[in-house]
Order: sequence, then structure tokens, then C-alpha cells
Amino acid sequence: MKIICSKDYIDMSKKAAAVIAAEVIQKPDLALGLATGSTPEGIYANLIKWNKEGILDFSQIKTWNLDEYCGLGKTNPQSYWHFMQEKLFKHINIKQRNVHMLNGVNPNAEQECSNYEKSISKNGGIDLQLLGLGHDGHIGFNEPTNDFPSVTHQARLEESTIIANSRFFGSKESVPKYAYTMGIGTIMMARKILLVVSGTDKAETLKNVLEGPVCPEVPGSILQFHSNVVVVADCDALNKISFESK
Ligand code: GLP
Repeated sequence: MKIICSKDYIDMSKKAAAVIAAEVIQKPDLALGLATGSTPEGIYANLIKWNKEGILDFSQIKTWNLDEYCGLGKTNPQSYWHFMQEKLFKHINIKQRNVHMLNGVNPNAEQECSNYEKSISKNGGIDLQLLGLGHDGHIGFNEPTNDFPSVTHQARLEESTIIANSRFFGSKESVPKYAYTMGIGTIMMARKILLVVSGTDKAETLKNVLEGPVCPEVPGSILQFHSNVVVVADCDALNKISFESK
């Protein structure tokens, strides 16, 4: 595991975007796993800039997003579909047919999730998976449980996640209780993983992820078992990590 310490959010966003850019340049038809949440927003702003400057070409890039809220369709401004269009896709030269996202309004969870798994494996798997980190250690919407859910599935959101994400919805009551998410196994199959973390409020969680025991109560801790992980985090998020790990 490589840990890159950046001085602040802006620096973290640039460095993490540069990790993605290097992969896109080396493999123009990269299979890119993407994430939502506020942490990746700065990364996407850099990718947009470099695309506009002609440094990055997304015309052959294929993407798969980690997750989507159940019950929210494409036109819903709180859907991850909408987030991705606004924050990245509509500003770069990606082809919409190469964008893959879970359909939150398909009521058939089993069908939606198994089709998503198939679409990833039919493509040959994900080359680079971008991940944010939830305050409870979740990755995608894989919440702390008794086991590591392996494939794409429907997850029930923890109260703490609903509260954390309510800032995007105006009220706690408006946050969906369920989401479709790639499983831990789906994420671990990616050939390379880029975890991005910012802020003192995530420092304790990041310490548990990087230095604690690998356990399903801290879903992100599974990343210790992946052979190709890059963590780009700011000093605030890394302030509880021992010097040796950094
Ligand atoms: C949501 C997403 C996660 C994301 C997390 C953290 O729960 N499903 O993929 O990592 O939020 O979000 P933020 O970056 O806003 O703290």
C-alpha cells in the first residue's frame, strides 16, 4: 500500500487526479470505477480541466460507478446519476454509452445487481477503482456488518450514513434507506484502487482502515489485503497514522 500525504484538500485533489490521469494516458480504453460524495469533487474538477486542455482524452474510457440510491431516478437531482453528470460526465468527451451506473429505480434488486456484475466482468474487470471513505469506514455503500458482502447487492444504509448524507437532501427523512452498491468482492477485484480521504473528521476512521485489524466492522480495512492500493489523503486525515506507515 502506497500512502501519499498531501498538504490540503486542493493538493489531495490534484495528486489523486494525477494518479487517474497517468492510468488514462497509459491505457486510453481504461475501465474506470468512480465514486460520489464530496471528496472526489476536486478530482473531477482537475480531470475536466485537463480534458479541456487536451491532456486527457476520455473518448474510449469506460466507467462503472460504485453505487446508487434505491428509488432515485436519473432526473432526481440527488441521484448519483445526476451528480456524476453534473460533476464530470457532461464536461468531458466521454461517450454516454460507455457510462455504467446502477439503476436506482429498477425494483428488481436481484436482476439489477447481477446485470451490473455481469457488465463489469464481460468487460474484463475494472482497471482502476476510485474510492471515498464513509465516517463509519464504509466503501461504496458497504456498511459495517458481520461479513464482507462479495458482489453487487442492495444495502440498508446505517443511521450515521443517512445523517452524514442528509446535507445533500435538506433533511434526514428525505435520504433513501437503501442503495445498490458494488460489493466488497467487486471492489477488491479491481486491478488498482485509489482511496481518497480528507479532513480531521475522517482521521480516526482512516487509522482503523490502514492500521486496525481487517474486519467487516470496518469495511475499508479489507483494502489491507489488496496488492495495489494507493491512498491519497491530506495531513488532517493522516494525523492519527503512525510515522512508520506514512
Ligand atoms: C457516500 C458514498 C461513498 C462515499 C461516502 C463519503 O456514502 N456512497 O462512496 O465515499 O459517501 O462521502 P464524502 O466524500 O462526502 O465524505
